[in-house]
Amino acid sequence: MLRMKKTICILLLWIGCSNVFAQSSKEKVMQIFIDSLLNKMTLEEKVGQMNQYNGFWEVTGPIPKEGNAKLKYDHLKKGMVGAVLNVKGTENVRKLQEIVVKESRLGIPLLFGYDVIHGYKTISPIPLAESASWDLEAIEKSARVAAIEASAVGINWTFAPMVDITRDARWGRVMEGAGEDPYLGSKIAIARVKGFQGDDLAASNTIAASVKHFAGYGFAESGRDYNTVDVGTSTLYNIILPPFKATVEHDVKTVMNSFNVLNGIPATANKFLQRDILKDKWKFKGFVVSDWGSDAELIPHGFAKDLKEVAMLSANAGSDMDMESSAYVTHLKELVEAGKVDITVVNDAVKRILQVKYELGLFEDPYRYCNPQREKELIYHPTHLAAALDMAKKSIVLLKNATPAGQGNPILPLSKNQKNIAVIGALADDKNSPLGSWRIASDDNSAVSFLEGFKKYNSNFVYAKGADLVKGPTDFIHEVNINETDKSGFAQAIALAKKSAVVIMVLGEHGFQSGEGRSRAKLDLPGVQQQLLEEVYKVNKNIVLVLMNGRPLAITWAQEHVPAILESWQLGTKTGDAIAQVLFGDYNPSGKLPMTFPRSVGQEPLYYNHYSTGRPNPNNVVFWSHYGDELNEPLYPFGYGLSYTNFEYTDLKINTDNPSAISVTVQVKNTGKLAGEEVVQLYLHDRVASTVRPVKELKGFKKILVNPGKSVLVEFVLTDTELGFYNNEGAFVVEPGDFEVMVGTNSTKGLNAVFTKK
Ligand code: NOJ
Repeated sequence: MLRMKKTICILLLWIGCSNVFAQSSKEKVMQIFIDSLLNKMTLEEKVGQMNQYNGFWEVTGPIPKEGNAKLKYDHLKKGMVGAVLNVKGTENVRKLQEIVVKESRLGIPLLFGYDVIHGYKTISPIPLAESASWDLEAIEKSARVAAIEASAVGINWTFAPMVDITRDARWGRVMEGAGEDPYLGSKIAIARVKGFQGDDLAASNTIAASVKHFAGYGFAESGRDYNTVDVGTSTLYNIILPPFKATVEHDVKTVMNSFNVLNGIPATANKFLQRDILKDKWKFKGFVVSDWGSDAELIPHGFAKDLKEVAMLSANAGSDMDMESSAYVTHLKELVEAGKVDITVVNDAVKRILQVKYELGLFEDPYRYCNPQREKELIYHPTHLAAALDMAKKSIVLLKNATPAGQGNPILPLSKNQKNIAVIGALADDKNSPLGSWRIASDDNSAVSFLEGFKKYNSNFVYAKGADLVKGPTDFIHEVNINETDKSGFAQAIALAKKSAVVIMVLGEHGFQSGEGRSRAKLDLPGVQQQLLEEVYKVNKNIVLVLMNGRPLAITWAQEHVPAILESWQLGTKTGDAIAQVLFGDYNPSGKLPMTFPRSVGQEPLYYNHYSTGRPNPNNVVFWSHYGDELNEPLYPFGYGLSYTNFEYTDLKINTDNPSAISVTVQVKNTGKLAGEEVVQLYLHDRVASTVRPVKELKGFKKILVNPGKSVLVEFVLTDTELGFYNNEGAFVVEPGDFEVMVGTNSTKGLNAVFTKK
């Protein structure tokens, strides 16, 4: 290791430090270092770099003497492991790193990967909720906080962000992404990558990001996780790939491939995706890691006959690192020797992996992320908790706020002096579920519950659970057991509701009902909650429904009956505090839905940027594109969200004087009594094109704060980037013709105009 440090220093001196050439000089130093290291490596050691193990073995205790764990340990010592996952804590990481650095021949440090998805210990809202903020700065900060905490416990690589576009609310992993739109999804993906990786990857508080899952995983048929993906080229190029491309352009260090087949070829062995598009067309410089065991899954997919063929197909297709399949470590050497995999394939993969290690500064100091002092100081740091609260309140979406009969004002915000409140619902008293799914390092029960947050503002309430949401314990691994029958608590809840002035019902999904492997065929309120809501409504109509859920729900009955509905998702550590701030008006809600909410599960996949079809319009006969038993329209459209104030849009103007920078302006006035933030959204429709274009596509948004009575002029500039699209050959084209513009408060409401692109 000392020798390595010395080589880097000498090379740096040799190349000199002129500012102009600093970047390329640094790059050259790195390339020289990596090439010289590669030259020293045996084929076995090279293959070792392409191997990733789950670190389940005891490193602080005795090393197992038998079996798989013993084999993995031996591989560590022989330099046959490039990365591990699920090892955390400075002490554990240092122990493992020491084995490799001190005992293996070349001492090449390990990468330590972990699923830091929405926080490490301080948990932010689930990513879908964060995306509802449309606040890129806050989202970047949330990823920054996650990186600071993760890096403080030795982790230097996160398997995040998930940038899969998701159109089907049944899919459990919608909670992990940014929703249905590729434009918003790309902006959020960039913000998250910037947050994790920072400006200097070698700093001890930044970590490498991994965008996932490349590609198409979000399009699992019928929303069932791991299911088949079969999409056309237009959807692939215009919807699925843009967030990946955007982050590659922003220097994301790694890409994770995926479990699914894409049009018959498993993504992990998909040469078209990984070589042709990612590495050749987009010039991606980092490395591709497989998903957990996705190499070995080529066998059940019916694409490879055995693990040896798996290694050959995946490596040749451009999957650089094998996560937990042991396909490479077992067979790749032999495949290279037999001429089935060219050595250049291995060399290229290893260079990419070494480069990320180099950029993380691991060759300079393999223990860079192992400072126990930082670990002690930074976990749950007050600034992290403050950021989590800020993110949480910005993630909340006000779905409905009506004025109950006989009252002058909408039901929300509640007065801090409000008397006689009933709070109902098991989730109100839950400190675990609001942490959401995919927060594997978090401390169980560490969220501020709804009740705890509420109490800080107002204690004039009585609480009744009404009914359990789940039966028995819940965890990340096991299926959640929902209470479908026990209504024994209904009577008490109804009695309290009857006596109360206002009823707050906290209902929704358990945090472990979404996430990996947790698809649902229903999108209603699980268990007996819908019945509870209807029973309470019979005795008191003054209800505020606070939803907690990891996906869009079909809450059509609630929308039709309940006067106020607040979407609070799963907001993480600061859940209760954030909801209370919004309920009592200390924060004016500003979130907008990043995913369409359906009226019925049968409408799924339901998304705003659909095609028109040849029969789009209602007809007095049946032969138009519709359902006989449901509307086409969603319950809440993409981009929807209310405020405690009102915004008026006027003066939409388009200036096409400069055809390569078309200006669109609009006045947005706050006509209410409270200051508020509005997400001003711009949508385009290309009326006629060589490939049919969606009825509407988001092409710009701005989140603005407007004081009561004041107006803000908002400008968007449209360039070819916004006007063009990918044709079915994957070429980006900009075609002349008429474009409809809509600027407004959500994807269905705004001012319209048309311009012609020459
Ligand atoms: C499987 C998941 O699909 C992936 O997103 C995750 O990063 C890996 N497991 C590692 O935990």
